[in-house]
Amino acid sequence: MTIRKKLIVGNWKMNKTSADAVTLVQELVAEVCKQTDVEVVVAPPFTAIEAVGKVLDGSSLKLGAQNVHPEASGAYTGEISVGMLRAIFTNYVILGHSERRTYFKETDAFINQKVLASLKGQLKPILCVGETLAEREGNQTLKVVQTQLEAGLEGVSKDLATSVVIAYEPVWAIGTGKVATTEQAQEVHAFIRSLLVKLFGDAVAQKVRILYGGSMKPANAPELLTQKDIDGGLIGGASLESRSFVDLIKAAAAAK
Ligand code: 13P
Repeated sequence: MTIRKKLIVGNWKMNKTSADAVTLVQELVAEVCKQTDVEVVVAPPFTAIEAVGKVLDGSSLKLGAQNVHPEASGAYTGEISVGMLRAIFTNYVILGHSERRTYFKETDAFINQKVLASLKGQLKPILCVGETLAEREGNQTLKVVQTQLEAGLEGVSKDLATSVVIAYEPVWAIGTGKVATTEQAQEVHAFIRSLLVKLFGDAVAQKVRILYGGSMKPANAPELLTQKDIDGGLIGGASLESRSFVDLIKAAAAAK
């Protein structure tokens, strides 16, 4: 029996107006606000985050952001700080997503600054790592994941490490309908756990949740979520509609 509570995170990416986001989260709250077996987080776009937070208030669901800037304030046009997110009771932030690495050229060093700033401000980072198809085919998967993980977590103390969530998202599985096999996913998750043991010791590593992301759907979730080192999901497409997201939460609750 694992000590880690399953975590399901909906990454809405650049989808939903504020009004549409409120409708969706009202449906979610109505269906799952009482369940406490699974921790549930929704990460709307910034324009909807405050309105969604108000709907979540008083429920067991938590609020996540999709990005943050490492500086506390200042001349950073278009950016949002940790303090701004905490002021509206944001609990989590997704960092190092492959879309930000690819389209916005975010480096491991910059992602690491965001991780450290988030932890300092009591915002829990969900650090995403994962290989491209070319890297997998070139047998580079574990090396890529190790580099991203170690660089992203540089300077994180043992005490704060349990507030970090890792998300393994093979880039080739994101939004493609191609899901990693349970063996492929579990192999990388176990490898990540072994790296966490080296970095922080076994007791801490056993507490850190490692999520799988990449075309996770109600149909494939039960098998993935019963793997020893898969502690939940970071969900894109299937989090945009209440039926499929609720089914994913139920799958996580059933996967003991
Ligand atoms: P999909 O579930 O749409 O493949 O997206 C996964 C993802 O990138 C979540 O962050």
